[in-house]
Amino acid sequence: MQSPIYWRGEIYRAAMHAMHWRNLGRRYDYVRRLVMPGDRVLDVGCGTGTLQSHLNGNYYLGLELNEQFISYARNKKRNVIKQDAMTFDRYGEFDVCVAMDLLHHLNPKHEEFMKKAVSGTRKRVIVCEPYVVSGRHPIVEKMIRILDNDGLNDSGEWENREELIRFFRKFNPARLDELDNSVMAVYERGEK
Ligand SMILES: C[S@@+](CC[C@H](N)C(=O)[O-])C[C@H]1O[C@@H](n2cnc3c(N)ncnc32)[C@H](O)[C@@H]1O
Repeated sequence: MQSPIYWRGEIYRAAMHAMHWRNLGRRYDYVRRLVMPGDRVLDVGCGTGTLQSHLNGNYYLGLELNEQFISYARNKKRNVIKQDAMTFDRYGEFDVCVAMDLLHHLNPKHEEFMKKAVSGTRKRVIVCEPYVVSGRHPIVEKMIRILDNDGLNDSGEWENREELIRFFRKFNPARLDELDNSVMAVYERGEK
C-alpha cells in the first residue's frame, strides 16, 4: 500500500525535512559541487524535482512516475516529466546523472539501471542511497519500510552498508562518501 508520504508533494517535502533536517541541504550541496556551469543534469526518480532549485541555473530534467509529485514540481516551474527510469534511454544527452534515494525502489532492477546510467551519461553519475542501520529496533525498521512504499514498486529492498558499498564498487566509482546513513557514489566517465 502506498505510504501517505507519497500522496502529495507537500507531505513528501515536510517528511524529507523532518527525516533529514540539516543533512538535506548538505546532500544538495554535495551534488551541486559536482555540477559544473553549463552541465546538463538528469535527475532520475526526482520526486518533487527540488534538486533543480539547488543548482546554478543548469539545464535540468527530472524523471518521475508519481503524478502528484510531477504536478507539485511543475507548479514550482521545475522541468519534470512522467517517465519510467527503467525505459529511459537518453543518458547520452546529459553531462550529469543524479539518482537520490532511488536504487532501493528499483531493486531488483537497480543493477540494470546502474549499468545504463554509468555507461550512457557523458561525464558523471552521482548516486545517493540509504542503507539499513545495524542495531535499529525491528519495529523501527518495519515502520521505515511502510513509510517508504512509493506505491509503484512492490520490492523496495534496502541493503546494509557493506552490501551497498560492495554493490557500488562493481561499477568502479571515482569516490565513495557517507552522509546521514547514506552512501554517495560518484562515477566519472573515462575512469572506467
Ligand atoms: C525516495 S523518493 C526520492 C526522490 C528524490 N530523488 C529525492 O531525493 O527527494 C524515490 C522516487 O522515485 C520514484 N520512482 C520509483 N520508481 C520509479 C521509476 N521506475 N521511474 C521513475 N521514478 C520512480 C518514486 O515515485 C519516488 O518519488
